[in-house]
Formats: sequence, structure tokens, C-alpha cells
Amino acid sequence: MVEAVAMDLKSQINLEKLPQHIAVIMDGNGRWAKQHNKPRVFGHRNGVRSVREVTEAAAELGVPYLTLYAFSTENWKRPYTEVNALMGLLVDTLHKEIETLMKNNIRLQAIGDLSKLPSSTHRALLDGIEKTRHNTRMTLVLALNYSAKWEIIEAARKLAQEVQADKLDPNAIDEKIFANALSTSGMPDPELLIRTSGETRISNFLLWQIAYAELYFTPVFWPDFRKENLYEAIIDYQQRERRFGKISEQLAK
Ligand code: FPP
Repeated sequence: MVEAVAMDLKSQINLEKLPQHIAVIMDGNGRWAKQHNKPRVFGHRNGVRSVREVTEAAAELGVPYLTLYAFSTENWKRPYTEVNALMGLLVDTLHKEIETLMKNNIRLQAIGDLSKLPSSTHRALLDGIEKTRHNTRMTLVLALNYSAKWEIIEAARKLAQEVQADKLDPNAIDEKIFANALSTSGMPDPELLIRTSGETRISNFLLWQIAYAELYFTPVFWPDFRKENLYEAIIDYQQRERRFGKISEQLAK
């Protein structure tokens, strides 16, 4: 039954008009756990299944880039036990799933201040990135110890250093040069941003890159998010008219 519903939704997707980059704010793990009378980390553990489902569904459809917000720079403020459990979960998941990424030809990348991650997490991540670097079907980007304001400041610092070293003319700085100084350099901007759990905030995620993204908010908690939920988000995205500042009549039909 569930399979049939998923197939029906999948068949409604126009594969010619897929978003080239989907970004997801995975939210609601803690509330999901509470609903089940379990500790918060139970929610994170169940969230891993959703990560697998969404990655598989996006790759099967042919979405070239999928970015998942796994840990923000603000998340360090959580209780130590939760941060520790999350970092451990990441290491375990990376170890377990690298084979799956290889089998499915998926390349792993990461954005954020990775050097500040615990060394085991950092190592597991770099190992996964290295092993999968030649894969071509889809790029899975994990945002870890990431915040958009941090990223924008880093980019500004990098460009300022280039100017100081006489390698860059300040008048030459344009959108392209600035975008290339960001950690997402070379990736298309997200065209669809999904946030789960009913929250309708951006929370310091990809602020520069989502300038024209379509935003999709769903009340579903992340551990309950399945392939069908991704299909629904894409169908909703495809029904919207993306004008980029123009009027309807100017858009190519
Ligand atoms: C948000 O829910 C979720 C997170 C901060 C962590 C997401 C991490 C995973 C799903 C684990 C593994 C990820 C990968 C990529 C292997 P919340 O804790 O903010 O929930 P709440 O708002 O209900 O408290």
C-alpha cells in the first residue's frame, strides 16, 4: 500500500524539471523522540533512516546535489551527552554507509568548520570524502559545524587576504567571485529548500545560496520523513512558477 502511494507520487514528478540541488534542514528528532517517550538521541538514531531514504530517493530520481544540515555551529550549546552521541552517530553512520555510497556511485562532500569537529568524526568524514571522490551519480553534502554567517565571513576574509596580497582588485569582486569563495564553490545553488517539523525558519543555513530557492515546510518530523515526503516536496516545487524577478509573460513557455 505504502509502496503504491510512493510509486504514484513518483510518477507525477517531471524528470526534466528536477531541482538541481535540494537542501534539507532535518528538524524534529528531539520532539519525535519525546512523542515516543524516548531520549532525544533515539530520535537522532531514527533520523539516520530518513537520511538513507532521502539520499536514495534523490539519487534514483537523478537530483545531482543533496545537502543535509546535520550539525550547526549553534548545536554545540546542546547538552554534552547529546553532542557526543550525535558525533558518535555520525562516525558509525559514515563507517556503515560508505560502502552503500560506493555501490550507488554517490560522492560525499562536507561544508562547515570541519577542523573543530572531534578528531574521530573529522577523520571518518575525510576518509569518506576521499574514498567517494570519483563518484559521479550524485553529490551528498553534509553541513557539519556549519553556519552561513561563518561561511560568509570566511569568504570575506579570504577575498580580503587576496586583495592585500595584490592578487585581487577590489573592483573586480562580483557575485561570481564571491560565490567561488564560499564553501559551496562549484555547486549549483539549491533550488528547493526543505525544512521538516513545522518550523518556518532558515536558521543560518546557506543564506547566500538560497537567494532564489523555493522554500518548502512540512510538519513531518525528520525521523518520519520518507521517500514519499521528498516526492511531495518536489511535486510542490514543480507546480510553482519561478520568475527570478521577471513577470509571468516574460518566462519562456
Ligand atoms: C534536528 O532535530 C536534528 C539534528 C540537529 C541532527 C540531525 C542528525 C542526524 C539525523 C544524524 C545523522 C546524520 C547523518 C548525515 C549521518 P532536533 O534535535 O533539533 O529536534 P527538535 O527540534 O525536535 O529538538
